[in-house]
Amino acid sequence: MNQISSMMRVVDVSGPGGPEVLGLAQRPVPQPGAGEVLIKVAAAGLNRADILQRRGYYPSPAGAPAWPGLEVSGSIVAVGAEVEAFKPGDTVCALLAGGGYAEYCAAPCGQVLPLPAGVDLLQAAALPEACFTVWSNVFQLARLQAGECLLVHGGASGIGVAAIQLARARGARVFATAGSDDKCRFCETLGAQRGINYRSEDFVAVLRGLAGADAGVNVVLDMVGGEYIARDLDALAPEGRIVVIATQAGSSAKLDLMKLMHKRAVLTGTTLRSRPVAFKAGIRDALLREVWPLFAAHAIRPVVDRVFAFEDAAAAHAYLESGVHMGKIVLDLRR
Ligand SMILES: NC(=O)c1ccc[n+]([C@@H]2O[C@H](COP(=O)([O-])OP(=O)(O)OC[C@H]3O[C@@H](n4cnc5c(N)ncnc54)[C@H](OP(=O)(O)O)[C@@H]3O)[C@@H](O)[C@H]2O)c1
Repeated sequence: MNQISSMMRVVDVSGPGGPEVLGLAQRPVPQPGAGEVLIKVAAAGLNRADILQRRGYYPSPAGAPAWPGLEVSGSIVAVGAEVEAFKPGDTVCALLAGGGYAEYCAAPCGQVLPLPAGVDLLQAAALPEACFTVWSNVFQLARLQAGECLLVHGGASGIGVAAIQLARARGARVFATAGSDDKCRFCETLGAQRGINYRSEDFVAVLRGLAGADAGVNVVLDMVGGEYIARDLDALAPEGRIVVIATQAGSSAKLDLMKLMHKRAVLTGTTLRSRPVAFKAGIRDALLREVWPLFAAHAIRPVVDRVFAFEDAAAAHAYLESGVHMGKIVLDLRR
């Protein structure tokens, strides 16, 4: 811990509210516990969950710092007891349960990865949350296979850009919904066969009309919920799987259970943040094995829409909430 000051700047939430409740504050630099590393943060990725946290609906879980931030990149400056996989000076990115909007953060080794080949620090901060979420839901839980068909709602989101690219790189066909024609075309540049503008088109009708998709999609990654769930089921192939990861349109759904039975469909959902480190470490190992080589092979790439200075976190939140972004938004702490 030599040469590390005892205090650091963080972006904290002064109370539930809009972007204006975000502001710089001084907090003690965390000490890495057993099995943890201390990272000097270079960049922090933004996520929709940070907005929910700022509004007071999604506090950090017990043991995590109170300030937001689910993913960072940076350099390891200290390691706790029992850490063998990393050493000071290593350049890494990490998934966090909170506390990424800070000059330093502690992270369990099981949630830390080296930077993929060809990916810089700003880009790397945009990877952990989306890669952990997409891998665990689309590939581990819903078991998307090469030759199958994936429907991604919110294809231009941070999660969506990872889902489209990963599914394509692993040999699946992909359809994506998005809220504008520009976003639909963007999804197609990432590998979606067809972007579907959910404001002007009915995704069930579009999928039924498309050659090859009339048998239905095999997996739906749903971040909308509400009345989308019944429509997901309509769009689903026999033995298809629907995975819900957010409920932006509501957490209640009405659906025809006879359709569920006739299609032998699976409806499931998960949250990542609250899962134990050991579970996340299993995803980390799979990412290193299955996904990180895809960056080196240029089969997938980080998609950073815009970078904001650390001090401009409120403006970054306002931009995320405006919904015009395509891909990820990152805070740069190196400026
Ligand atoms: N369960 C988990 O473990 C987990 C983990 C990570 C993220 N998530 C969730 O995944 C979602 C994406 O996260 P993010 O950080 O990538 O956020 P984001 O970039 O802000 O994306 C939100 C997306 O939702 C889309 N959307 C909203 N209403 C829609 C609708 N009716 N039909 C289709 N798409 C719609 C938006 O599409 P347009 O902008 O095109 O309108 C936007 O692309 C968030 O809801 C987040 O909470 C869940």
